[in-house]
Amino acid sequence: MNFADSEVVGAILTEAGYTLCSTLEEADFVLINTCAIRDNAEQRVRHRVRELRAQQNRQRTLRIGILGCMAERLQSRLMVEEDNVSLVCGPDAYRRLPALLRQVREGQQASEVELSTTETYADIEPVRLGSNGISAYISIMRGCQNYCSYCVVPYTRGRERSRDPHTIVDEARTLYERGYREVTLLGQNVNSYRWSADSVPTGFPDLMEMVADVAPDLRVRFATSHPKDLSDELLQAMAAHPNICRCIHLPVQSGSDCMLKLMNRKYTVGWYLDRVEAIRHYLPDCSITTDVIAGFSSETEEDHQATLELFRRVRYDYAYMFKYSEREGTYASRHLADDVPDDVKTRRLNEIIALQGQIALENNRLEVGREYEVLVEGESHRSKERLFGRNSQNKVLVFDRGDAVPGTYRRVLVTDCTAATLLGQLTAE
Ligand code: 5AD
Ligand code: SF4
Repeated sequence: MNFADSEVVGAILTEAGYTLCSTLEEADFVLINTCAIRDNAEQRVRHRVRELRAQQNRQRTLRIGILGCMAERLQSRLMVEEDNVSLVCGPDAYRRLPALLRQVREGQQASEVELSTTETYADIEPVRLGSNGISAYISIMRGCQNYCSYCVVPYTRGRERSRDPHTIVDEARTLYERGYREVTLLGQNVNSYRWSADSVPTGFPDLMEMVADVAPDLRVRFATSHPKDLSDELLQAMAAHPNICRCIHLPVQSGSDCMLKLMNRKYTVGWYLDRVEAIRHYLPDCSITTDVIAGFSSETEEDHQATLELFRRVRYDYAYMFKYSEREGTYASRHLADDVPDDVKTRRLNEIIALQGQIALENNRLEVGREYEVLVEGESHRSKERLFGRNSQNKVLVFDRGDAVPGTYRRVLVTDCTAATLLGQLTAE
C-alpha cells in the first residue's frame, strides 16, 4: 500500500515540476514514506532519519520529510523528536505536498495531517517507481474501520472509502496497453469495496470481473481479504475468470477463539475454516496465505497451541508472522495488558515460523512433476542463465532461460524445490 502511495506522491510532485533522482547527492528533499503498524517499523525509520544527519551536515540544503502512517500518528511531535525533519505529511494530504515543500524551501517547518473521508487519488495516474514493466499495484480503496483491537491503521489511514471503478478499469487498461501483464488491486479490506454513485452499485466481485475483462492475458491479483467478508460470490467470480489469480491472502491472526474475540476480528476459528473450505471447493488449485500475531494480550500456551493446530489444518503456502507490538491509541493499548513476556513471544513466534517452513516445503514437494503457466518476470538473482517468474498461485519458479522473454507467458515443468522456490524447466511450446 505504501509502495502504491509513493507512486501517487511521485505523480503529484512530477506534475509540480520536481524530478526524481537516484542519489542522495543530487537531492534537495528526501521523503520517507512510513509504516506505523509495529514499533520495529518505526524504529527503522528513525534510524534512517538519524543516518541522514551526516549527509545533511555535508549538504546544507538537504531537507527531510516524513510521509504516511508514522507522520499521521506522531504529527508535529515527530519534528521535535527528530529535529532534522522539516516536513510531516499524512496519507490523505499528498495533494498539499507541493505547497508544503514550498513552505520548507522558505525556511519553515510544514505539517499537514488532516484525514479525509473522500480522498482516493482516483484521478492521479501513478508514476511507476522501480517497476519491472510487467506488474503494478492499483489502489482501489483507502482507510479501514474494522478496528481490530491491536491495530493502528484505522487511526492513521482514516475511514474506509472506495475509488470510482471506472478510474480503476482505465488504469488497468492503460497498464495493459503499455505491456504490463499483472495488476494487484489493493485495499485494507477489499471485500468491502463498494461504489454506490452509479445507478447499479459495484461490489468487489463486480469490480474484479470488470478488471479481468480488460484482457484475458492480464493477470489480476488482490490483497487483502478480511475472513469475515470473504463471500462465495467472490469465489464464484474468480472461478469464472482464469486470469484472476488462484491465490488468496486471508489473515487469520490467531487460531484461538478467545484471542480472536479480544482482537475484535468478528469471526471464529470455525467460520475461518468454513471459508477455507469454500475456497478449496470453488478453487481447488488456489493457494492460501496468511498473517499471524504471536503473543497478543493474555495469550496462553493453549491459545498458542491452537494457532499451531490451525496452521497444520490449513497448510498455508506462505505466512507473514509477527510478534505482538502494542500500539499507542488502540483499544488493546487502553484496555488489554501487553502481558506476554518478550522471550515467550519470541519462542512462540519461532515455533510458528519453524512449523510453517516445514509445511511450505512439504507443499512445494507436492508440486514436483506439475506444469504451470508462468509469467516471466526477469533474471534470477543467483544466475544470469536462469529466469524467474510466478504461477497463478504466486509461487516463484526459477528455470533455465532458453528462449523465454520477460513479460510473456511460458509453460514450466517443476522438477525440484526449496521451501521458498520451485525449480523447473521450460516445456516445448
Ligand atoms: N502487532 C503485531 N502485528 C500487527 N499487525 C497489525 N497490527 C499489529 C500489531 N500491533 C499485523 C497483522 C496484520 C499485518 C498487516 O500486520 O497480522 O494483518
Ligand atoms: Fe488493521 Fe484490522 Fe483494518 Fe487489517 S482489518 S487494517 S488488521 S484494523
